[in-house]
Amino acid sequence: MPEPLDLASTALPPDTVGLLAGITTTRAIRRYRDEPVPPEALRAMLFAATRAPSGSNRQPFRFLVLTDGPNARAAKALIAEAARRIWVNKREEDHYDEGSGAVAGSPKARMAATMQHYVEHFERVPVLVLPCLVRYRDPTPFEGASVYPACQNLLLAARALGYGGVLTGFHGMVEQELRDLLGVPEGVLVAATITIGRPAGHLGPVRRRPIGELVFGDAWGAAPDWAVDPPGTAHTAAGPPGTSPSRAAG
Ligand SMILES: Cc1cc2nc3c(=O)[nH]c(=O)nc-3n(C[C@H](O)[C@H](O)[C@H](O)COP(=O)(O)O)c2cc1C
Repeated sequence: MPEPLDLASTALPPDTVGLLAGITTTRAIRRYRDEPVPPEALRAMLFAATRAPSGSNRQPFRFLVLTDGPNARAAKALIAEAARRIWVNKREEDHYDEGSGAVAGSPKARMAATMQHYVEHFERVPVLVLPCLVRYRDPTPFEGASVYPACQNLLLAARALGYGGVLTGFHGMVEQELRDLLGVPEGVLVAATITIGRPAGHLGPVRRRPIGELVFGDAWGAAPDWAVDPPGTAHTAAGPPGTSPSRAAG
């Protein structure tokens, strides 16, 4: 038996990547190796998450971290069922099997295959995190700003340690069952479903629209001179792969 780690006297593990490089390569990771995430890695990720900013530093974020206990298995099973139902609908609504989606190896077909694999294997995700928001006033459209930065910190810290994850809305369909299972009190919002694990595939740069389409200077629509992508930046359109801009809202 290895000696239990004395975490109280153990520093955080070193980063494997610089901050800017980490930010620009934190992709949505939906395929995981079948290996657990050790407590010292979870501790570093959740430490980073809980260092996030929030309005007035109220720190209303809480994290349910589910790995392999009975509640974890039950929560994963609940969300897995919901995820499969959601993906079946999205596949049809976003026409994943039409156009370039019918061409093997196209970005659209690869995305569909990744999603299919993700929902089929959801019960086996190494770590399921349910970030929550303890509401301290009536809901406002702005309240997410006190929990989602913490979610992104979590994903960035995972990236820093060679792990990967993705934020989803899969819990929505089974929220009451999850609340009952995990004892989430009244007045607490389950804000997201995040899965984390060691990526099965490659890490690489995210693809977005060119900076000049997304950043304006003195007035809407006019990019400042400095809004120029670094050399070699790869781009993609907004929305599901292969869709027209008019269908890119979901
Ligand atoms: C608010 C929000 C909701 C999301 N919901 C889902 C979801 O329900 N299912 C899913 O597989 N990914 C979901 N994602 C992940 C996005 O699809 C992903 O971040 C986006 O496609 C960019 O992927 P990339 O960083 O790998 O380029 C969500 C992300 C955000 C920020």
